Amino acid sequence: MDVERLRAATPGCQDKVYLAAPGTALQSAGTHAAVRRHLAREIELGGYNAQFDEAEVFDQERAALAALLGAEQDHVALAESGTHAWWRLWGALDLRDGDRVVVSAVDYLGTVLPPLQRGVSVDVLPVGPDGVPDEDIAAEIFPGARAVVVCQAASHVGAVLDVDAVAVLRGALAPEAWFVVDVCQSAGQVSVDLAGWGADAVFGTGRKWLRGPRGTGFLAVGDRVLALTPTPLDTNTGMLIDGVAHPAAGIQRFEPFEASWAAHAGLSCAVRELLAEGPNAVHDRIDTLNEGMRRRLADLPGLAVLDQARNAGGIVTFVHRERAAAEVVAIARDAGIVLGMTSPHPAPYDDRLSEPVVRAGAHVYNTDEELDRLADLLAAI
Ligand SMILES: Cc1ncc(COP(=O)(O)O)c(C=O)c1O
Repeated sequence: MDVERLRAATPGCQDKVYLAAPGTALQSAGTHAAVRRHLAREIELGGYNAQFDEAEVFDQERAALAALLGAEQDHVALAESGTHAWWRLWGALDLRDGDRVVVSAVDYLGTVLPPLQRGVSVDVLPVGPDGVPDEDIAAEIFPGARAVVVCQAASHVGAVLDVDAVAVLRGALAPEAWFVVDVCQSAGQVSVDLAGWGADAVFGTGRKWLRGPRGTGFLAVGDRVLALTPTPLDTNTGMLIDGVAHPAAGIQRFEPFEASWAAHAGLSCAVRELLAEGPNAVHDRIDTLNEGMRRRLADLPGLAVLDQARNAGGIVTFVHRERAAAEVVAIARDAGIVLGMTSPHPAPYDDRLSEPVVRAGAHVYNTDEELDRLADLLAAI
């Protein structure tokens, strides 16, 4: 991988060490140009005409996402965020008060709230230190569950779930139960394979490991979900036939008309750049860099690294034994190093976090020298 070329095409990494990819990764200059081009069309032609004129760009985006996610192009809906994509899917699933859903121990709060609000109970599938789900507990809780909704990469610690193993355990579910994977923190840093897993849907976000702009997300579905009717429908996702509400044909039933199409023009570019670079090469580089970061930080006596033992992926979380996470982030920022933070709040079923922690993640544009700079700084405070 030509890191110098990638860095030269990433304006945000020129004057600082940017290690906050788990929040929002740095966009490439090409992605930024695609957003600006669309905005210029909006100024010139109005937003609707700009959207219709660039229809091909959004088809390219759906095709690129489909290739990345192991889905079919006409089974990919664009969305405003990972959350909105999940809401549209959840609104189509026929789970009711009294039903039961299985989530993984690293699932995200925003994923479990809609089921709980509907009176659906949640059983938690424990995940071992290597990302492998607990088979014995799965054998107990899968039978009778109406859906399994697992998070491939946690947002609060480095932890990548072995989704292939969940797909195997799925045999214990009733055949009509749904299998959904949250790929918000994984798409772009770990392989996602809707068809290979035999999953019913994956939902994700654009601004993290895909290096897209904010306000972008996606939903990719299998045939069973494509036949469902999302609730509520709107003017784009539904229609009225003889006074009866029907879903729009095909994947349109899951896609908004009103969204930031400029932002999606950016995500279209970002995902195509990722495919051109080679997703496996990108995944390997992210993994190597973050393993390197974890190794450097684990050697520092003043820090405790919280990530799982193996298969931790691109997110590195740690606490400083004497300084609060916010203080560490502020000191690093003053030294030209951008880190992020997270807290126990988004991870209701994982007790590894009891206080806010520093969250870092290197992406393809980072270097070993930058990781040395981070380690030197943290050793000195
Ligand atoms: C694991 C996980 N799932 C879901 C989401 C929600 O995505 P979005 O913020 O795009 O709605 C996030 C966001 O941080 C996340 O980390």
